Amino acid sequence: MEGFRLNSCIVSASPEETKAFGECLGRNLQRGSVVALRGVLGSGKTCLVKGIAKGLGIAEEITSPTYTIVSEYTGGISLYHIDAYRLSGIDDFTALGGEDYLYGSGISVIEWSERIETCLPDNTLFVDIEIQGCVRLIRISNGAV
Ligand SMILES: Nc1ncnc2c1ncn2[C@@H]1O[C@H](COP(=O)(O)OP(=O)(O)OP(=O)(O)O)[C@@H](O)[C@H]1O
Ligand SMILES: [Mg+2]
Repeated sequence: MEGFRLNSCIVSASPEETKAFGECLGRNLQRGSVVALRGVLGSGKTCLVKGIAKGLGIAEEITSPTYTIVSEYTGGISLYHIDAYRLSGIDDFTALGGEDYLYGSGISVIEWSERIETCLPDNTLFVDIEIQGCVRLIRISNGAV
């Protein structure tokens, strides 16, 4: 996969394709980038994060621990993998120093970003993943749906 364009939709027919797309995205991110993932349970958000990590040169395996909200991975640029699913609200996120991640020098990638939408910086990249039959439609944009 060569690249991506804002607002264009790509079709992923397998977890490998989603990872490859994430890898390409990861290679194009910069310090301070914030990527907000939106998509239902099992749509492939973690799968995409695995690809992003690979694109950032992070060798460590990305996991989805049940109770961890933020997992930090160190590469050339740090990756903050945030899973907002279990947050009870914005206050919860702020209490754990969430804004330090979003406005820090690493890259934040957020699953269930809808839960903290009002905290997201203006330049957040949104990635919407939609299950469509047996494929996933993935769209990157810089604003609302
Ligand atoms: N095209 C595809 N892209 C990504 N995952 C796919 C695709 N097709 C099937 N799958 C399957 O869908 C599942 C996606 O799981 P994943 O953990 O990435 O989802 P998630 O969005 O992070 O879920 P959760 O909301 O529970 O965190 C995996 O079991 C994967 O094998
Ligand atoms: Mg997940």
